[in-house]
Amino acid sequence: MIRLHDKLFEPFIAASEIEEAVGRMVEEVKADFKDETPIFICVLNGAFMFASDFLKRYDQPCEVSFVKLSSYRGFSSTGIVETLLDPPEDIEGKSVIILEDIIDTGNTVKELVAMFSEFKVKQFKIASMFYKPDVYSGEYNIDYVGIKIPNRFIVGYGLDYDELGRNLPEVYQIKEKDMINLVLFGKPGAGKGTQANFLKEKYNLKHISTGDVFRYNIKNGTELGTLAKSYIDKGELVPDEVTIKMLNAEVENSTEAEGFIFDGFPRTKAQAKALDDLMESKGMKIHATIALEADDEVLIERLLERGKVSGRSDDQDKEKIKKRFAEYNEKTAPVLSYYEEQGKLHRVNGVGEIEDITKRLTGVIDSIHQNQSV
Ligand code: IMP
Ligand code: MG
Repeated sequence: MIRLHDKLFEPFIAASEIEEAVGRMVEEVKADFKDETPIFICVLNGAFMFASDFLKRYDQPCEVSFVKLSSYRGFSSTGIVETLLDPPEDIEGKSVIILEDIIDTGNTVKELVAMFSEFKVKQFKIASMFYKPDVYSGEYNIDYVGIKIPNRFIVGYGLDYDELGRNLPEVYQIKEKDMINLVLFGKPGAGKGTQANFLKEKYNLKHISTGDVFRYNIKNGTELGTLAKSYIDKGELVPDEVTIKMLNAEVENSTEAEGFIFDGFPRTKAQAKALDDLMESKGMKIHATIALEADDEVLIERLLERGKVSGRSDDQDKEKIKKRFAEYNEKTAPVLSYYEEQGKLHRVNGVGEIEDITKRLTGVIDSIHQNQSV
């Protein structure tokens, strides 16, 4: 295991496996270009090591040149590709073979295709050492692929995490902390707050209740709070980006936590997707979604009891309660099915003694912990 900046990485692809793949690619390209002198274009910076290994083995006539493109900051593609070094001008009529380190979203490929379509080249091919087929959304069919990898952030063999790790001869993948990240769902009265309090103590989790986060940011006049308030004051919904940024700040400020309980978010499928993206950008993920369930009749009884004590008017009116339930059903159902499709949804019976319900919840969490360590 190695550390680069603030993150841990574990071995993923051995140097020998890379060498074998490079050898295979060289043979494929050699066979296709045996009667020609192609020009290899190495895409800097990341492809320098691949290009070097590839070209040392390419024992047929060829030219070598470079372009430099950049799209990455930290863990994710920015979507904007900058050209920092242009292609050579004398490539007309030549067969061009791009040597790339990795193809992720395909933004860089798209840029390369556009860039070279301005020259009258004889042939245009792309050879990429690594390729993430699950993420690639481009139209161009990659001509030569070294090793296909799942959607993981990797470093080594030319690839970097904020400029570190390029010199490693093998490839490492980011190590997910042994975290437990949960999303908690439940109708009003289901006991979410009570149970979240137990769980956060037991597992050292940070409870992120979106309502609390909003109130805190607005009360303290943070930049995001002020922005959120400007929408609320106009009677508009706070855009998801603003909410996500607040949650991002909460996550970043909780370096001690061994996981998170998200409460009150996501409320739509789009938000669930945004939360997944946020987690992934941090090398984390949502492990489980827990829906605390109880019959409406039971919940109504509970809320009416609570209303007598707290004086909350919306807890004292049966019709208002039913309206909140209907809203919950309507809004939450698609989100629950989003997680169900990922096999992450756990429905937990929320009726009974508080301790018994806690036991059911810890049962779910402990089974996730166990699966993680195998
Ligand atoms: P794309 O434009 O999204 O296909 O991204 C391609 C570029 O992003 C590559 O040339 C790399 O510089 C960088 N990149 C993509 N995935 C990774 C990764 O897992 N680790 C390090 N850099 C990456
Ligand atoms: Mg690159």
